[in-house]
Amino acid sequence: MKKRESWGTHVGFILAAAGSAIGLGNIWKFPYIAGENGGAAFVFVYLICIALIGLPVLMAEILMGRETQRNPVGAFRALNNSKFWIAVGGMGVVAGFLILSYYNVVAGWALGYIVEAIKGSFFDYTTPAMAGEHFNQLVQTPVWILGYHLLFAGLTMFVVYAGVKKGIELGSKIMMPLLFVIIVILVIRGITLPGSGKGMAFLWVADWSKINGNSVLVALGHAFFTLSLGMGAMMTYGSYMSREDDIPSSALQIVILDTLIALLAGIAIFTAVFSAGLNPAVGPGLIFQTLPVVFAKMPGGYLFSILFFILLVLAALSSAISLLEVIVAYFVDEKGWDRHRAVLVMGTIVFLIGVPSSLSYNLMADVKVFGLNFFDLVDYLAANILLPLGGFLIAVFVAWIWGSDRALRAIKSGAATWFRQRHEVSAGWLSVLKYFAPVMIFVVFLYSIGIIRF
Ligand code: TRP
Repeated sequence: MKKRESWGTHVGFILAAAGSAIGLGNIWKFPYIAGENGGAAFVFVYLICIALIGLPVLMAEILMGRETQRNPVGAFRALNNSKFWIAVGGMGVVAGFLILSYYNVVAGWALGYIVEAIKGSFFDYTTPAMAGEHFNQLVQTPVWILGYHLLFAGLTMFVVYAGVKKGIELGSKIMMPLLFVIIVILVIRGITLPGSGKGMAFLWVADWSKINGNSVLVALGHAFFTLSLGMGAMMTYGSYMSREDDIPSSALQIVILDTLIALLAGIAIFTAVFSAGLNPAVGPGLIFQTLPVVFAKMPGGYLFSILFFILLVLAALSSAISLLEVIVAYFVDEKGWDRHRAVLVMGTIVFLIGVPSSLSYNLMADVKVFGLNFFDLVDYLAANILLPLGGFLIAVFVAWIWGSDRALRAIKSGAATWFRQRHEVSAGWLSVLKYFAPVMIFVVFLYSIGIIRF
């Protein structure tokens, strides 16, 4: 049998996993949900969710991958050969198809906006409504939306096609430092704008009256999405690690990088939005409708707008490859396909599943299921149902089914002394997986499918 692929270096794994985590979730979604939920107080709750639930579940996912050296289906099968748990792994692969299908669409918009930025289109508008009009025009043009969708899907396939070391790892080693440099430049631009202090205050001075049950749940749901949890993406990346690698420290580094980038994106965006005197609480259009106007007003806005949309594409691409890799790893490990065939066939299928999402804004705008267009339906199904359910089941599986003793022994192997030699730390990790995380996720889940309301 051919030897299974693996990471070339430890830092390669960290950058790839951080690349998976850092994505549209950090730069597009985090700022707008923080904006909608009142800023600083929400950010605080989000940080708590990341630390108390995100980090422990991330460790559990990476652990399952590292122990079994398999894709999600193979991982569950190796640890517990029952139909139910294998199906949970299968649900992860299905979630991969769904999430990637619409992720490609939004990333395609970002790609198209690099071109708009270069063309200088943003200087034509003076209000977000005008920028919104332009956005609507673009997404209503099938060639525009499908063309960039296809281009982005092709880029993702190109990276994954080249393999774990030569594609994903190498790509991450190039993309992540670049991403970091760009975001630092944008932060410096943001904080040196007149009136940027109001944007900083929005992010850091908490207005606790804005916190309610809803914002807590949005924060937890986002903690999952932003760390790529709940469908086996981190499991798959963990499966290319060596058995001696240190999981607790790696997970901590990934979480710190992801959180840092979300906060920096928040700073860059809110300082600029407040400085331009615009409203931060506009929802998903913040990036495609408000920011172009901000750039039009900002000194040097032409250059910064190009950098910003390059940043968005880099973040999206390093995440999209992790989603495709879950699917590819499944066909390679379980079906004996070769990587190239898996990438070409499955990448094309994912693109095709994404076509109705792409067309949700034009030809298929009137096709509604449960009152949602195709794009919103897939997003809702994946992010609000499959991911929390997957996260819940992974926590329960590791702590209860695979079992405390085995999980503890496994997580300590390779772990640095700060984790391995402190009983309270490792026991704390296990208790979170056993009780706290499942209960919290369950509440979010019921909430997000509308069974309970606060
Ligand atoms: N974490 C990415 C983001 O913040 C999205 C992502 C990539 C993802 N892979 C995932 C989300 C797997 C859930 C599961 O944009």
